[in-house]
Amino acid sequence: MSPNIEGDVKSCCATLYESDLARMLLGDSFHPGGLRLTQRLGEKLGLRSGIRVLDIASGKGESAIFLARTFGCEVVGIDFSLENVNQATVRVEAAKVAHLVSFRRGDAEKIAFPDASFDALICECAFCTFPDKRAAATEFARVLKPGGRVGLSDLTRAATLPPELTGLLAWIACIADARPVEEYSEYLESAGMREIEIEPHDEALAEMVRDIQGKLLGAELMSKLKNLDLEGIDFAQAKTLARAAADAVRAKTLGYAIVVAQR
Ligand SMILES: C[S@@+](CC[C@H](N)C(=O)[O-])C[C@H]1O[C@@H](n2cnc3c(N)ncnc32)[C@H](O)[C@@H]1O
Repeated sequence: MSPNIEGDVKSCCATLYESDLARMLLGDSFHPGGLRLTQRLGEKLGLRSGIRVLDIASGKGESAIFLARTFGCEVVGIDFSLENVNQATVRVEAAKVAHLVSFRRGDAEKIAFPDASFDALICECAFCTFPDKRAAATEFARVLKPGGRVGLSDLTRAATLPPELTGLLAWIACIADARPVEEYSEYLESAGMREIEIEPHDEALAEMVRDIQGKLLGAELMSKLKNLDLEGIDFAQAKTLARAAADAVRAKTLGYAIVVAQR
């Protein structure tokens, strides 16, 4: 992929997840399993007070704030979208956890922190969107202290995806470049990580897709009843994507998994 296209993909992804549409369809936690899976990730990483965690692609800050409150750890979140970073910062103040949590703009493929800055790193539902996954995995290992742990949760795919799931909308909705879970562990292993553990959570994705389908129908109905133009949303395209995703989850072509490893 050329550098220009890579930049476009990151910006498109960031813009989609800044939007009111994303909030309407996904709420504030932009990944399957919501905070239940974030808690699971926190437990698997052994988070606790005194630990410094980097949340890569922290979105609107929901997980970072939750982890700090639940485990008492310090969390720094980075996200490609400045808008998300600003919104997350406002939420930190409201949640009164500014002594533990902060956000800044950043790119997972070029993390602006020195080597060995963190005890743990999480990346939820975003690794699959990074155009250069190998560079991101190398950066994850670099910023972790020796013995530090990384926890990804991400979309996985088991076979070639149908054409409806490979267009630009599918890409920025995190589907098109999902990889087999073994490929994610291979990236971590090549970056020097070991003791890799994989935990499947396909049910969380099935639940999220059902929820999105319900919300899309509700929003379309509302827009028809009230004659609203909802930010020019193409409901037909969104419903086709959601239906194709539901079929792929049922066929086990698409799934969701947690991958944990140690540096
Ligand atoms: C599906 S959302 C996940 C957000 C958050 N992790 C969560 O689970 O709620 C994907 C996020 O990745 C961010 N993103 C995309 N490419 C990125 C990159 N190269 N570096 C950092 N953040 C990125 C987007 O701005 C967006 O907030």
